[in-house]
Amino acid sequence: MDYKKLILEALKYRERAYAPYSKFKVGAAVIMEDGKIYSGCNIENASYGATNCAERTAIFKAVSEGGKTIKAIAIVGDLHNYTYPCGICRQVIEEFSDYSTDIVLAKNENDYIVKNFGEILPGAFSKKDLN
Ligand code: THU
Repeated sequence: MDYKKLILEALKYRERAYAPYSKFKVGAAVIMEDGKIYSGCNIENASYGATNCAERTAIFKAVSEGGKTIKAIAIVGDLHNYTYPCGICRQVIEEFSDYSTDIVLAKNENDYIVKNFGEILPGAFSKKDLN
């Protein structure tokens, strides 16, 4: 799959980052099972722990609009290095992923790598563990 469009969405939302404390802008875009795309940026807070990562902003937008399963998520943070999702975001991705979910780590629309979700959170705790 060509992820250029998804990465361009993430880049566009990266510009909307509210990151006055870290100055580290992140944009993310998810494409859901129905083909709809939702995007988000990181949103910081003077009480630092209240910060929301770009990935979770995008995912929460998608789920609140009725999205169920993430087919792929593109993430753009540092433009010179691939920015991986933090641990909390990996757990949130897990909740709405399936075996095929792709994690697209991009510096720009022409320079990116794709990981399968299972590669970045092996042995995840999930709903299957709650009986
Ligand atoms: N951040 C994200 O938005 N996504 C990540 O995967 C890593 C970290 C944000 C949170 C905070 O606003 C800033 O980057 C520095 O940690």
